[in-house]
Amino acid sequence: IFKTFTKPVLAGANVIVTAGGTKEAIDPVRFIGNNSSGKMGIALANVAADMGAHVTLITTVHDQLSSPNLNEIKVSTALEMQKELQKHFESSNVLVMAAAVSDFRPAHKADQKIKKDDDQDLYTIELQKNPDILKEIAKDKNNQFVVGFAAETENLIPYAKKKLYSKNVDMILANDVSKANTGFNVDTNQITLIQRDKEPVTWPLMSKNDIAAKFWEYYEKNIK
Ligand code: CTP
Ligand code: CA
Repeated sequence: IFKTFTKPVLAGANVIVTAGGTKEAIDPVRFIGNNSSGKMGIALANVAADMGAHVTLITTVHDQLSSPNLNEIKVSTALEMQKELQKHFESSNVLVMAAAVSDFRPAHKADQKIKKDDDQDLYTIELQKNPDILKEIAKDKNNQFVVGFAAETENLIPYAKKKLYSKNVDMILANDVSKANTGFNVDTNQITLIQRDKEPVTWPLMSKNDIAAKFWEYYEKNIK
């Protein structure tokens, strides 16, 4: 299904894609996570590889990857994802940050499985804010084209615009995650492209594979 492109129009480009939700350990058997399937990021990585780019996929979810152009790096937590991204960013041309990074992690990971207590009903997990991986890496930007996502349940365009500027990225792919067929854990999505000094452009509801193809075609025509 990814073999739609015959011309290697992205040959020579070094692409980094992050995918999936991070898992932040509470104890050896439990974690804080989210509903991200990683499908959008994996589609973006597969299509870019198919178009001839060299792709580093930093991901929390494993997928059957066929292309020899794809280098998959498996991570679990936000801190691991950040570390891998820092290793590869400098030599990249494009970063697409499709991962659903947990904003928080447990401040302390228990060494052993936490036991419930017969006399206690209420428990608290203290949370520590994770670094904003995208915002931090964008500070080291040279000529990389940096793309973030924005998952919103209201005020899609104003909130996404705010992220474009506060994170100093070049483009935000905004998606409304309040609807059943857009966003988390489904095969379709609806994207609004947000860029500096350009009107937002909303694409129709499409499969994540089609969105990935449309994104890289846009990149190849307008950015590269
Ligand atoms: N992101 C990141 N590191 C984080 C949180 C988010 O790199 N700790 C990235 C995501 O991968 C995405 C973009 O920032 O590309 C926006 O993520 P989102 O969750 O929509 O926004 P936040 O900045 O976390 O703000 P909020 O969740 O409060 O809306
Ligand atoms: Ca967030």
